[in-house]
Amino acid sequence: MNRIQKLLLENKAWAQSKLDINEGYFSDMAKDQSPEYLWVGCSDSRVPESEITNSTPGQIFVHRNIANLVVHTDINFLSVLSYAVNTLKVPHIIICGHYNCGGVRAALSQNSLGLIDNWIRNIKDTYLLHKMELEQGRSESEKVNKLVEFNVMEQVKNLVHTSIIQQSWHDRHAPHIHGWVYDLNTGLIKELVSIKPGISIDSAHRYEF
Ligand code: CO
Repeated sequence: MNRIQKLLLENKAWAQSKLDINEGYFSDMAKDQSPEYLWVGCSDSRVPESEITNSTPGQIFVHRNIANLVVHTDINFLSVLSYAVNTLKVPHIIICGHYNCGGVRAALSQNSLGLIDNWIRNIKDTYLLHKMELEQGRSESEKVNKLVEFNVMEQVKNLVHTSIIQQSWHDRHAPHIHGWVYDLNTGLIKELVSIKPGISIDSAHRYEF
């Protein structure tokens, strides 16, 4: 059996296991979605949002990219955000990074990886913002993990600075925004920040509605 056939067979077994417990499982699921969370995570295969939070299909709307970045010109991300906030009206957005992230490690090195250098550059900008603190008495892996945390905090800020979030805060006082980091070594999530709708925003990034 090749690898692709294995996946398809596993899918059949999984679907059957759901039906064994509840024969209406898929017909109910197919009707609609009403997820409670938008998850912005890293594409890393070791950080599957549903599994690490013990969630079920239908609970988490997902956007994943390399190093969980919120880039204000990324039409893909903005479309996901707009749909999650304005149509699905999710009450919570979670930006979840993870320690020892390959994208963050790449940002701290001088190696060129080709096209992806242009994506990673966003993290180099965050490194420069915190260079003094990052370079003070840290081992290489401590530096990576501290930058992972700074990167999550920066993406939370980028999210708050979008007009999509600010408009929604104005209109319906939601969503809450959470910054998390997942530890590959323990399986545990660390909460970095939790932001309630309507916190003060510096004037350069604040929109009036
Ligand atoms: Co990663």
